[in-house]
Amino acid sequence: MKVEEAKQFIISKVRESGEWRGECLNMIASENVTSPLLDSVYISDFYHRYAEGDPFSRYYQGTRVFDEIERMVKTLAKDALKAKEVDLRLVSGTVANIAAISMLSKPGDSIISSSIPNGGHLSHNVMGAAGLLQNRINSFPTTEDGYHIDVDETKKLVKIINESAFTRLSMVILGGSLFLFPHPVKELSDLGKEEGFKVLYDAAHVLGLIVGGEFQQPLREGADLMSSSTHKTFFGPQGGLIAFNSKLSDESIAMFRKNVFPGVSSNHHLHRIPALGIAFLEFKKHGREYARQTVKNAKALAQALNENGLSVEAEEFGFTESHQVAVDVSKQGGGKACAQKLEESNIIVNKNSLPKENLKENPDNPKGLRIGVQELTRRGFKESEMKEIAILFKEVLVNNKNVKNKVKELTKNRKIEYTI
Ligand SMILES: Cc1ncc(COP(=O)(O)O)c(C=O)c1O
Repeated sequence: MKVEEAKQFIISKVRESGEWRGECLNMIASENVTSPLLDSVYISDFYHRYAEGDPFSRYYQGTRVFDEIERMVKTLAKDALKAKEVDLRLVSGTVANIAAISMLSKPGDSIISSSIPNGGHLSHNVMGAAGLLQNRINSFPTTEDGYHIDVDETKKLVKIINESAFTRLSMVILGGSLFLFPHPVKELSDLGKEEGFKVLYDAAHVLGLIVGGEFQQPLREGADLMSSSTHKTFFGPQGGLIAFNSKLSDESIAMFRKNVFPGVSSNHHLHRIPALGIAFLEFKKHGREYARQTVKNAKALAQALNENGLSVEAEEFGFTESHQVAVDVSKQGGGKACAQKLEESNIIVNKNSLPKENLKENPDNPKGLRIGVQELTRRGFKESEMKEIAILFKEVLVNNKNVKNKVKELTKNRKIEYTI
């Protein structure tokens, strides 16, 4: 390929994708959009630089101005997360989990986390970070519905593990990727004190709801560490963070932070940090309203999908307390076929396994769809539009219609809200 041709190809494809996604109902639960203000500080000279270490204690010269910014953004993050200390040098949620799991466990230790069908993330499981770090991984027992951790059964599991001569339970991981309802942080933190294990809460999906005060407050409820991405319900640049509970000693926090640098980072992609600061400021001003609207939208969408004949999960619990809605589409051909059909109509969601589903039976076409409303909320959608969207889902999945034109109409002239 000629250089000029290839250049034009890349430029036009980037434009094409941006324009197309602007005409879509983007409902992947792990995505969001940043504001023009945030974008304006994202690409800067910091994009080219290194700043190993902590503000005003770096290994390289030239970081004075960046140090002032990172110090300020850390203060914003600590206030928003009500944390004793935060580490912003994680380039993603997965990297944050590698660091956090290695802070709380050693190879060969046992941990308990949620299985993938029950909502756990890859990094909590054997194929991801937890497996890579050579932990013995047990899955949380859940109640019959599959969406709640069964605390009594977990107590029994903890006893069994701790009576074993070969291993010890060093930590549990709460939070997840399919995450409709709060987890029992207080109960398990109390148990952890009796049984000698630590609690990591992975807030990747719900960070924006936590900061906005619309979900549980894991550090206040007793979690030792909170790991997160910064770009799902929290609408920052893509990246990660770890927040530390104020009950941890300065010495253990200092020791833990060595697992971030030099453990899993050298360059921490400095250009993210001013952009992250803008996101924290946007949340300071509008976080509560945005988080409240997000949860209201999720509940409205779930209710409307159910009324339109789709099988929405967890009806007996009010469907959801987060930004997510889970739908069993096995009668409509399964998650893969349904997600593909929706994409043909510019509705972007992902196939997802549902609780208790046997992943080996149907690895490529799980029963469910996972739908997130946080990005639509940021683009100004409200409950009445959730009802319209539910009808579009029915048109596509039940009546086999293509609704691309209606979606284009619904997404036209949308601005990004909740900015400063
Ligand atoms: C619960 C949870 N933790 C961690 C991650 C990984 O985050 P990242 O994509 O930033 O590595 C995800 C990703 O979706 C997630 O759902």
